[in-house]
Amino acid sequence: MAAPVNVWDYERIAEERLDANAFAYFVGGAGDEVTLRDNLAAFERRKLRPRVLVDVSTITTTTTVLGIDVALPVLVAPVALQRMAHPDGELATARAAAAAGTIMCLSSAATSSPAEVAAAAPDAPRWFQVYVWTPRTLTEAAIDEAVAHGYSALLLTVDVPYIGRRERDIRIDFKIPEHLTVQGDLFGGGFDATLSWRDLEWLAGYGLPVVVKGLLTAEDARLACEHGAAAVVVSNHGGRQLDGVSASLDALEEVVAAVDGRAEVLLDGGVRRGADVLKALALGARSVLIGRAMVWGLAAAGEDGVADVLRLLRDEIELGLGLLGCTSPDEVTRAHVS
Ligand SMILES: Cc1cc2nc3c(=O)[nH]c(=O)nc-3n(C[C@H](O)[C@H](O)[C@H](O)COP(=O)(O)O)c2cc1C
Repeated sequence: MAAPVNVWDYERIAEERLDANAFAYFVGGAGDEVTLRDNLAAFERRKLRPRVLVDVSTITTTTTVLGIDVALPVLVAPVALQRMAHPDGELATARAAAAAGTIMCLSSAATSSPAEVAAAAPDAPRWFQVYVWTPRTLTEAAIDEAVAHGYSALLLTVDVPYIGRRERDIRIDFKIPEHLTVQGDLFGGGFDATLSWRDLEWLAGYGLPVVVKGLLTAEDARLACEHGAAAVVVSNHGGRQLDGVSASLDALEEVVAAVDGRAEVLLDGGVRRGADVLKALALGARSVLIGRAMVWGLAAAGEDGVADVLRLLRDEIELGLGLLGCTSPDEVTRAHVS
């Protein structure tokens, strides 16, 4: 096969490389996968509104997220079980994110420990994604390890009181390969469904910025701000939780309006192109996160694959900015998208 030139190419290679069990887990969504498809379609519905005859001779893709310098407005989303995509798993992803100059979010259900991932890319910024398991001591031990190893924000994922019903996994009788060790309790039914806004104070007690990941409404965005969230991630978990909810891009504007500058707003779900990133920025996101796009790179070529996916997106963002008439992510405004 010719060298991949975009994220879609990486998805095709990943499908060839992965066994059916792993591919079903990574690619699938909940129910009829309406939301999964709509995450992509929402980007197609929006049209960019380029401005011409702007001096775009110098372009930067750099920005900041929670005060951290990043080389592009794309972070690596927390994705469980990365050693099922490639033997190097989260360690490869951490090294590639570091080389690309961005932040990796480590999943609570990773196949490497917070300490191992920190050691793989000691100088790079990293955030820790929190699932709250029962008993809570399991979660507290994981957070303690992350805090001790320099993770600089805690991302609380709030859209999983129960795990979504992913029919591809059911049909294939999905199993975590026996040779893998998983942190936390992904399929054990151990998610703490009592979790509520009050628990944000418990999390804030660790002294790190709290990022609330997985909300879709103005109401919850306001509550997140009132409970001290430093950032929110507009997300439907890549269409893997409640099928039938809005595409995350369609929920972005109402969240941005409700947050009203009190926190940073990030978005994930369906990002496969630099142009998708530009549309999210135009609708008020500070940055996006990529889940499956990263997984496809990892499955295709480990660290090099993830690095190449991030490089392709960076190049697409840079060219897109220039053609849009912007010299940096900060210059992308609401007027740049229909
Ligand atoms: C295979 C897979 C595993 C995931 N595991 C986690 C996880 O452990 N924790 C979490 O907060 N989100 C998890 N997510 C959701 C991602 O963080 C992110 O919201 C989603 O992948 C974005 O959509 P995209 O895949 O279209 O980029 C997972 C997503 C996928 C596809």
